[in-house]
Amino acid sequence: MCGHCCNSDLSLLTEVFNDMNGNGDNLISVLQKAQDIYGYLPTDVLYEIAEKTGNSPAKVMGVATFYTQFRLKKVGKYLILLCKGTACHVNGADSIEKAICEELKIQDGDTTEDGLFSLKTVACLGCCSLSPVMMINEDTYGSLTPAKTVEILREIRGREAK
Ligand code: FES
Repeated sequence: MCGHCCNSDLSLLTEVFNDMNGNGDNLISVLQKAQDIYGYLPTDVLYEIAEKTGNSPAKVMGVATFYTQFRLKKVGKYLILLCKGTACHVNGADSIEKAICEELKIQDGDTTEDGLFSLKTVACLGCCSLSPVMMINEDTYGSLTPAKTVEILREIRGREAK
């Protein structure tokens, strides 16, 4: 049991386990519901799921790491998906990444200490004509420059501070 690295409220899983109707085989569905509850899959939650579904922790961890839909790290309130596909790369995605990393003091895959932003670089977001592009949650921002990117981040941070 993971007693030191995370401290999730495991009682939130009761309903998920009740819904299984004794069908512990549907591990993916259980993991999806758990991620909906916590926003990601903390280690102690994975251990609890292993115990309640009758799977080994190794199997549960294996499934959680195999599918890209599952997140093992906490994600900030604002998830920045920065495109590093070919068109965006050619149009300066690296300088946008640098601006984001410097402004937020994080690297790709990290979350800011205040839990507000996470950064993930991705391949083509499907709107290359707007390159370089990033998405923040559901919103798309195109034709980015480093200055414009920083302005967007500060605007969000300012809004959250109110
Ligand atoms: S390469 Fe960035 S949106 Fe297509």
